[in-house]
Amino acid sequence: FKAPAVENEPMRTYPPGSTERKALEAAIAQMEKELPFEVPCIVNGKPIKTGKTEKQPIPSDHARNLCTYHEADQATVALAIDGALAAKAAWESMPWNDRAAIFLKAADLVSGKYRYKLIAATMLGQGKNAWQAEIDAAAELSDFLRFGVKYVEELYAQQPPRNAAGAWNRVEYRGLEGFVLAVSPFNFTAIGGNLPGAPAIVGNVVVWKPSPAATYSNYIVHQIFTEAGVPPGVIQFVPGPPPEVVAQAIAHPAFAALHFTGSTHVFKQLWKDIAANMDKYKGYPRIVGETGGKNFHVVHASAEVRNAVLQSIRGAFEYQGQKCSALSRLYVSSSVWKGGFKDQLLEEIAKIQVGAPQDFGNFMGPVIGRPAYDKIIGYIAKAKESGGEILIGGTGDDSKGYFIQPTVILTKDPHSVTMVEEIFGPVITAYVFEDEDYEKTLELIDKTTQYALTGAIFSSSRAALLTATNKLRNAAGNVYYNEKCTGAVVGQQPFGGARGSGTNDKAGSISIYYRFVSARSIKESF
Ligand code: ALA
Repeated sequence: FKAPAVENEPMRTYPPGSTERKALEAAIAQMEKELPFEVPCIVNGKPIKTGKTEKQPIPSDHARNLCTYHEADQATVALAIDGALAAKAAWESMPWNDRAAIFLKAADLVSGKYRYKLIAATMLGQGKNAWQAEIDAAAELSDFLRFGVKYVEELYAQQPPRNAAGAWNRVEYRGLEGFVLAVSPFNFTAIGGNLPGAPAIVGNVVVWKPSPAATYSNYIVHQIFTEAGVPPGVIQFVPGPPPEVVAQAIAHPAFAALHFTGSTHVFKQLWKDIAANMDKYKGYPRIVGETGGKNFHVVHASAEVRNAVLQSIRGAFEYQGQKCSALSRLYVSSSVWKGGFKDQLLEEIAKIQVGAPQDFGNFMGPVIGRPAYDKIIGYIAKAKESGGEILIGGTGDDSKGYFIQPTVILTKDPHSVTMVEEIFGPVITAYVFEDEDYEKTLELIDKTTQYALTGAIFSSSRAALLTATNKLRNAAGNVYYNEKCTGAVVGQQPFGGARGSGTNDKAGSISIYYRFVSARSIKESF
């Protein structure tokens, strides 16, 4: 058999009055009427209510909660690990076509039956506007699942090209021995699905700890996996206090891999924890992580100004700058800055509406929660104290939701704190360089931070693009020419960074699946 040809899920635009707009509005209204939901752990296909509950507040209206969830306790995590290991043999030996069919069905459930519910949960719970939630919870999630089937089919087809006479060489791609721990972030419902989904599709069993701030949408994703036919025990859903759940899983002798998206700091700590437990394990665990970023745009003197302005606004402020790929440091050639870039940037930002995502006119929504709000406002204060000039924004309002105005800080110091540290919010720090200092600025960009996730170069000169590409060889895992540094599409731009930004195993490509298989070569002589 061959898996069906794969296309990216077409995106819906929700124009006023359209059927899709009405359907989404109805899904949001229904969810608002029924909330707060109760979310249990799901272990071996059964709900477990531990009684130790936490709430997932709605970031645009923090007096309300989207759900109350039961945190996994020690006994639940232990049961989840044992149950996953017990489910492994049957899952791994299921014929590939059947496993593939389950994930194709899950993709269809995401893009069909559950589309509006998932989008509504992502809008309310994670503060995305309809367009951002569509990109994430509908399109990217179903793309991860459908392209996953295609990539795994290609992976399994990788066979030795030579056989000596009288022999047949073949390679079997086994799942890892033990279980995979998936630890997913709040900012993409699609990543919530892909972190357990990618290891599971190649025959692994997974213990999945979702982000507390994305519990409800991720719970729906788990329901979709179940409805599609993922057997009980194969993906265990254990929301809970991150340090405890993760530490317990990492300390288990059957721990085989970590699939992580989150902060650089936490990932480094987990790497050390894994090292500390090394002697307990049967093998060497696979560690796959996508972490922080301090992503840049560099605008050369030859850039098309309007495009560079609009792309910079989208790169920095869509989803309130809470994409790991979001633009954060902006380097602009002096002639462009003075020749219209600055004025247009400020003019366009002044038009941005910030407010609840259910209001379709809002380009920006809230940041995810109290700690994020305080941290971002704190960075703006630090920038001011160290001589940064706030060109626009710089303020927030947390009375109802965690709203922060789109902010541009102009700095004369390319090593100032907001040029170097990850903020994860709607803040650009801009630095203007003399046109003749382009190469020097590229060297500066390369050396300023510990990260290397995304970057974009704006120029109409092929020579300037080439110079940047060479000088910034290791400064970003995803580079864009004349386009914003966010928005990688599954099957089009494999996504991931190096240096402090991750292991660069490229989500949305074949590479990631290699990390979760252990190949066995078999030579048979006749
Ligand atoms: N894959 C997401 C993007 O590229 C994070 O924006």
